[in-house]
Amino acid sequence: MIMKAVQETPLRLLLLHIFLLFLLQLEATSSQRTQAEALLEWKNSSTSSPSSLNSWSLTNLNNLCNWTAIVCDRNTETVSEIHLANFNITAALTQFNFNKFLSLTHFNLNGNNFSGPIPSAIGNLTKLTTLDLGNNILQGEVPAEMGKLTELQFLSLNNNYLNGTIPYQLDNLKKLPTCFSGELPPGLCSGFSLEQFLVQFNDFTGPLPDCLRKCSALSRVRLEENQFTGNISNAFGVHPSLAIIYLSNNKFVGQLSPQWGECKNITDMRMEGNRISGQIPPELGQLTKLQYLTLSSNEFSGEFPVSIGNLSLLFTLNLSRNHLTGTIPHVLGKLTKLELLDLSDNNFTGVLPVDPGMFESLTSLNISRNKLSGGIPEEIGNLHLRYLLDLSSNSFSGSLPLNLAKLIMLEILNVSHNQLSGKIPSTYSRMHPNNAFIGNSGLCGETEEITPCISGPKKSNKKILVGILAPICGLLLTVTISAVILKFCKKSKLGELDHPKVSKSFDSIIWERHGKLTFSEIITATENFDEKYLIGRGGFGSVYKAVLDRGRVVAVKKLNMSVDSSHDITELNRKSFENEIRTLTEVMHRNVIKLYGFCSWKGCLYLVYEYAERGSLKMVLYGVEGESDVLGWGTRVKIVQGIAHAISHLHNDCSHQIVHRDITLSNILLNGDFVPWLSDFGTARLLNSDSSKWTAMAGSYGYMAPELAFTMQVTDKCDVYSFGVVALEIMMGRHPGELLNSLSENGDMLLKDLLDQRLRCPSSQLAVRVVSLITMALACTSNNPDSRPTMHYVAKELSSTRTRTSLSEPLGTITINELAKFS
Ligand SMILES: *[C@@H]1O[C@H](CO)[C@@H](O)[C@H](O)[C@H]1NC(C)=O
Ligand SMILES: *[C@@H]1O[C@H](CO)[C@@H](O)[C@H](O)[C@H]1NC(C)=O
Ligand SMILES: *[C@@H]1O[C@H](CO)[C@@H](O)[C@H](O)[C@H]1NC(C)=O
Ligand SMILES: *[C@@H]1O[C@H](CO)[C@@H](O)[C@H](O)[C@H]1NC(C)=O
Ligand SMILES: *[C@@H]1O[C@H](CO)[C@@H](O)[C@H](O)[C@H]1NC(C)=O
Ligand SMILES: *[C@@H]1O[C@H](CO)[C@@H](O)[C@H](O)[C@H]1NC(C)=O
Ligand SMILES: *[C@@H]1O[C@H](CO)[C@@H](O)[C@H](O)[C@H]1NC(C)=O
Ligand SMILES: *[C@@H]1O[C@H](CO)[C@@H](O)[C@H](O)[C@H]1NC(C)=O
Ligand SMILES: *[C@@H]1O[C@H](CO)[C@@H](O)[C@H](O)[C@H]1NC(C)=O
Ligand SMILES: *[C@@H]1O[C@H](CO)[C@@H](O)[C@H](O)[C@H]1NC(C)=O
Ligand SMILES: *[C@@H]1O[C@H](CO)[C@@H](O)[C@H](O)[C@H]1NC(C)=O
Ligand SMILES: *[C@@H]1O[C@H](CO)[C@@H](O)[C@H](O)[C@H]1NC(C)=O
Repeated sequence: MIMKAVQETPLRLLLLHIFLLFLLQLEATSSQRTQAEALLEWKNSSTSSPSSLNSWSLTNLNNLCNWTAIVCDRNTETVSEIHLANFNITAALTQFNFNKFLSLTHFNLNGNNFSGPIPSAIGNLTKLTTLDLGNNILQGEVPAEMGKLTELQFLSLNNNYLNGTIPYQLDNLKKLPTCFSGELPPGLCSGFSLEQFLVQFNDFTGPLPDCLRKCSALSRVRLEENQFTGNISNAFGVHPSLAIIYLSNNKFVGQLSPQWGECKNITDMRMEGNRISGQIPPELGQLTKLQYLTLSSNEFSGEFPVSIGNLSLLFTLNLSRNHLTGTIPHVLGKLTKLELLDLSDNNFTGVLPVDPGMFESLTSLNISRNKLSGGIPEEIGNLHLRYLLDLSSNSFSGSLPLNLAKLIMLEILNVSHNQLSGKIPSTYSRMHPNNAFIGNSGLCGETEEITPCISGPKKSNKKILVGILAPICGLLLTVTISAVILKFCKKSKLGELDHPKVSKSFDSIIWERHGKLTFSEIITATENFDEKYLIGRGGFGSVYKAVLDRGRVVAVKKLNMSVDSSHDITELNRKSFENEIRTLTEVMHRNVIKLYGFCSWKGCLYLVYEYAERGSLKMVLYGVEGESDVLGWGTRVKIVQGIAHAISHLHNDCSHQIVHRDITLSNILLNGDFVPWLSDFGTARLLNSDSSKWTAMAGSYGYMAPELAFTMQVTDKCDVYSFGVVALEIMMGRHPGELLNSLSENGDMLLKDLLDQRLRCPSSQLAVRVVSLITMALACTSNNPDSRPTMHYVAKELSSTRTRTSLSEPLGTITINELAKFS
């Protein structure tokens, strides 16, 4: 009995316990079920839900805590965290049933396609400590109810389409790691992480709140591309940790405070495109970590502070489009890191100070539209200028320094509209278009639009024309072409044709695979190459659009170039030329532009191509100013894949290997569906340079493999390098020159900061593709040709379907080093 009683009590207790547990379980299950249903409804409302959310399903209703992206509280077994960053979800936030998730502590939707307004019901999630809505397409105003989220320790709203002012109620969010002092005035200060205040690319309006001044912990401030207004003279204070401050393209007025000089950790200060006035404070000279300073397109006046000469790490200085006066200080030339200097469109006077040893690292100099005078210093030819030298619209006098010819790498030279005199050396006019020299009444030369030099050598008046572009397998067609063209000319007596009425014999010289196209059709369609059909012009010729009878559209490139009469054309072989063209034209690839045919007439050579509706990738990527459409990530990835395939084809699939040598954004054209076509197999250089020096001139600066500077030996690995640069440029939305030059120092830069900031970060599968693409592009731009992959490998990898389904870490934390390391 005793035994029994003793046994019985624990049993009963146990049963009771089990019963209670059962009840608890039931309750948990029922609230879990409501939450599961709410999530399913939300998923159901999305126009596309990724397969990664397959575990969110009716059949799996009882496993809520095991669903992807869901974390439950261990005690209550209800949802406490939702982590959906970069899931590629397209849905409205309004469809989320906030009231079913009142104990949510983490809500992360970063990097998706969530649209619509932020519902005020979000204010019910009072337990939230992390709320990340950044990088979506949310619009409307920030709801005042967000002020109820007093437990928040992290809040991000950046990169959406939010507008309006930031509600003062956000003051209540005292736990955000910002100005933790209790007496903040109303405004956004306490509402955002003021270590990082990132609201770039939104439509926020109104002035900055007074409190910002007191946020001494600020490290990164990115307010660029909003509609912020107000006087910034006193908006900021002393921020010792501040490293990055971007205020670009807002509507700020006021002055730059001398206090900026005390924010000694600033490395990058961009304020272009506002209406900031007054002097540039000399105190900026104390920011000795500064690498990047753009104050362009504002209303700064007064003199250039000499103290800027103390910024020994300065890399880019852009003060263009202001009202600065006085002279360009000598000290500027002593900045040994300065690569880009833009002082254009101001009122600087005096001479351009270039002494030996100055401006050593400068690659780009624009001082156009000032009142500078004196001679162009001979020393300028000793600089390493590569991208541009624009001295136009000043009062420079004297002759063009002979030294200028040393700048063979220079992409753009402009000395127009000065008071220069003397003869333009023929090397210069071959390297640069005529308009680089116009507007100097004293300059003479041998090219059109420039006054001829009276004592100069006689110009050959033989109208022999040369030039060709082979659309495909970019063989170096040299003087051979001129011979053949000349033969054609003689044979068809083209020199006699004056008007578009063309003879049969003329048509017969059209070489066209499909046999249908005749040159007279083109002449008719372009009304004898009337200006109104002109769609592009380069240093080497003009491009016309011709809509033919049958609705077919072609692009016609008109090339003209005089050939020295001393060339012995007769020894050249017409047959081999024809064969070459034939080979080239027979190479068919979806991503290589099609050459329909060519023709010569009245001293010009005409090449007829498939018409690329959207023009060059350069035009599309950089857009017409003010145009809001930017290429999406998906399209960019496809474009890079296409280019890779085209180059791989040239390298591997032709009867002999073909190296393109000049892969740049300008040489990639896009059709109506954004399919890329590789084009221009070196035409520009061929036509602009002495053909015997062709090898030295191949390639475009900024895209050229570094070994070409020493070896001049062109290999397929040179194309791989250029491809890498192009691929990075497409992903970054800017030329990667800076990045590639400083990869070793900037390796810990975040990938997401590198990507084109006009777009929201890619998410999900697209993010995976972008990451692998950048990894590949970095490998392609290796300085050592041997460590670059082959184009065949690149093309294969980029279009491999066997890609990982997700990133091993969030896109937002990947650094460049990690990608460069794996490459
Ligand atoms: C999903 O939506 C459809 C109608 O849009 C509805 O018929 C269906 O019941 C919904 N499913 C769930 C699980 O809510
Ligand atoms: C959740 O998943 C884990 C392992 O993935 C498994 O051990 C556990 O049983 C699952 N829980 C439920 C309730 O399905
Ligand atoms: C994102 O949402 C917008 C509007 O809701 C839609 O037009 C667009 O196609 C969506 N993008 C993707 C990648 O689903
Ligand atoms: C949630 O928020 C809405 C709108 O702000 C409000 O009407 C509702 O009463 C709130 N519900 C709860 C449970 O707090
Ligand atoms: C904000 O945008 C919404 C729609 O996106 C619009 O209705 C509203 O007027 C805008 N508000 C302001 C202050 O611009
Ligand atoms: C300034 O920046 C360096 C790193 O560049 C950092 O170590 C240091 O803590 C920063 N100083 C302040 C006051 O934040
Ligand atoms: C901006 O504020 C400063 C200091 O208060 C003042 O001197 C200046 O006139 C203001 N500028 C403008 C454009 O309002
Ligand atoms: C300087 O800034 C202006 C915009 O304010 C920009 O148009 C220009 O291209 C910049 N200069 C250089 C060399 O980048
Ligand atoms: C710049 O450096 C010089 C010494 O090289 C120093 O005398 C001067 O005070 C510095 N100027 C500023 C504004 O820091
Ligand atoms: C330069 O000065 C002249 C006259 O002083 C003025 O008309 C012009 O607007 C100024 N240009 C710039 C860019 O400030
Ligand atoms: C140089 O600056 C002027 C004025 O800001 C600008 O118009 C011009 O395009 C720039 N030159 C080049 C080659 O970018
Ligand atoms: C993202 O979702 C859209 C449908 O909305 C789909 O077309 C696209 O392929 C998805 N992207 C990735 C990388 O999964």
